[in-house]
Amino acid sequence: MTTRIALIIGSLSKQSINRAVAEHIAAQAPAGVEIEEVQIGDLPLYTQDLDTESVPAYDRVRAQIKAADAVLIVSPEHNRAMPAALKNLIDIASRPFGQNVWSGKKVAIATASPGSYGGIHAGLQIRQSLQMLGAEVLINPEVFLSRANAALENGKVTDERTAQFLNKFAAAFYAWATA
Ligand code: FNR
Repeated sequence: MTTRIALIIGSLSKQSINRAVAEHIAAQAPAGVEIEEVQIGDLPLYTQDLDTESVPAYDRVRAQIKAADAVLIVSPEHNRAMPAALKNLIDIASRPFGQNVWSGKKVAIATASPGSYGGIHAGLQIRQSLQMLGAEVLINPEVFLSRANAALENGKVTDERTAQFLNKFAAAFYAWATA
């Protein structure tokens, strides 16, 4: 049986370190796991006024998350909070009222930053929103990867210790997602 993972990258940057971390975790997926990225860069800013209108980009991301067996979010921190584009997606997928697709969904969260705190404020904030929405959030192991830029070369995780750390997280995530 195939396990479907929806991958959400909180960065819209072309040179994103979080995308590099996400690609490393995705590359550890065992046979039988399919990963599909949820694009968040083209989503109109959410307002509840749009609940009664057809917004194809909203339908797309809601359907992707709904169909997934588990979701992996890898995100930077912006001003000690989650990036606006990611918050927009979380809000879109939580509505219209009664159609919250996060409810009961398995979600794992990783953050990465060039700074010393690894994006932990964003990571814990994402966790808080999703727990409130009824998601089943993977708490252990946690990833708030500090000095992440030093672990990368040409968009790949090349530092061996960092790779091992991410591989442990990936193994735990895939075991949980496929259980
Ligand atoms: C940042 N950055 C940042 N880093 C951090 O650890 N804590 C923070 O609060 C912030 N705040 C912040 C605000 C804004 C607007 C930007 C653009 C950046 C730095 C950030 O971690 C760095 O740019 C990373 O490269 C972002 O990750 P991606 O986009 O490369 O994946």
